[in-house]
Amino acid sequence: MENTAPAKKVMLSGIKPTGDLTLGSYLGAIKNWAERAEQYDCYYFMADLHALTTRNDPALLRRRTLEQLAQYVACGLDPEKNTLFIQSHVPAHVELGWVLNCYTMFGELSRMTQFKDKSAKNADNINGGLFTYPALMAADILLYQPDYVPVGEDQKQHVELTRDVAQRFNNLYGETFKIPEPFVPKVGARVMDLLNPNSKMSKSDEVGNGRVVIMEAPEDIMRKFKRAVTDCDTEHCVRYDPENKPGVANLMSIYAAVTGKTFPEIELEFDGLGYGAFKPAVGEAVVETLRPIREEAQKIMKDKAYLETLCKTGAERAPCARSIRRSDWYRLRGKGTENRESGIRSESPLATDSKSPARAYTLSFHFSLFAFHFSLS
Ligand code: TYM
Repeated sequence: MENTAPAKKVMLSGIKPTGDLTLGSYLGAIKNWAERAEQYDCYYFMADLHALTTRNDPALLRRRTLEQLAQYVACGLDPEKNTLFIQSHVPAHVELGWVLNCYTMFGELSRMTQFKDKSAKNADNINGGLFTYPALMAADILLYQPDYVPVGEDQKQHVELTRDVAQRFNNLYGETFKIPEPFVPKVGARVMDLLNPNSKMSKSDEVGNGRVVIMEAPEDIMRKFKRAVTDCDTEHCVRYDPENKPGVANLMSIYAAVTGKTFPEIELEFDGLGYGAFKPAVGEAVVETLRPIREEAQKIMKDKAYLETLCKTGAERAPCARSIRRSDWYRLRGKGTENRESGIRSESPLATDSKSPARAYTLSFHFSLFAFHFSLS
């Protein structure tokens, strides 16, 4: 019988394997992915090419990429229901990344908050990749024509740039890319550092008392929450006021995200009890949320053969199951297309045969990345 079910909408997202997944990456991103597998056609990847913008030990990057895959599965991303893959295993990301680089403006890239923050933090390694990173991210997204890109608040700007680039390309050459929507959760979209509630809890920062990683031991998590910065309110009032009480607001957001309670419910629960009761309660709720994930991830990480099979099947499924055909974004070649705005038929800047030196160069680049990624463990 013919399948008449309407096609599912598509979700896609990724995380850089630059360090252990934090409570921030879990609440801002993965938790929301895992909840949507039935409703959407889902693609999630380890953004290992993005990790190259900072210096990495290849063996460590490879290990972290596999660990991240295990953590994805432990967080509830069923590999049967979600396509999970490693970005560098799908060469089309780099190919389209280059093309989109040429449609992303210097001024746009210069305005990216993350570029400004990261270049200030790594003044000795402000490389081209760090600058053009959003064009690769646009390729990661547009290749799969997703409807939604679930990300935390800090990545929203990159998804908005992706929309602008896609729109620009479509205006020039006709409808090619679907324009995706960022999907930012209502709570947990910006988990802040426990010791510095004005700055984001970051995966790449040194392990410190301000960030919690999902593989952390319960006693360490409890200790960090007990020491979390609040404020000097003498009444220790648990009230949601991000401007005047950023530490308490951060703890309330974390508690809300892991328990599903609303801010008024939390205020009522801790009315008159003070920070002495509130902070351990948040710690306890986080410990209980992360406990099954940590235990499951530890189990999965021991099964290297299973992880390698997942990598292989994911890489096979990712490009052919969904991705936009290369011919769609290389379609300008030869024939020329009509510029929808001007009505002028333009010759392709990509008018190249698939066996041309340009393509051969791209392929050899992929192979060297493969070698980088796999041979140096
Ligand atoms: P990355 O690896 O920095 O972060 C991964 C995801 O976790 C979210 N996140 C947070 N959310 C709330 N609070 C926090 N403290 C916090 N820290 C991280 C991020 O918003 C993100 O959703 N460029 C991306 C990876 C990427 C990507 C993509 C994402 C590459 N290609 C295509 C979506 C689509 C990045 O570096 O995220």
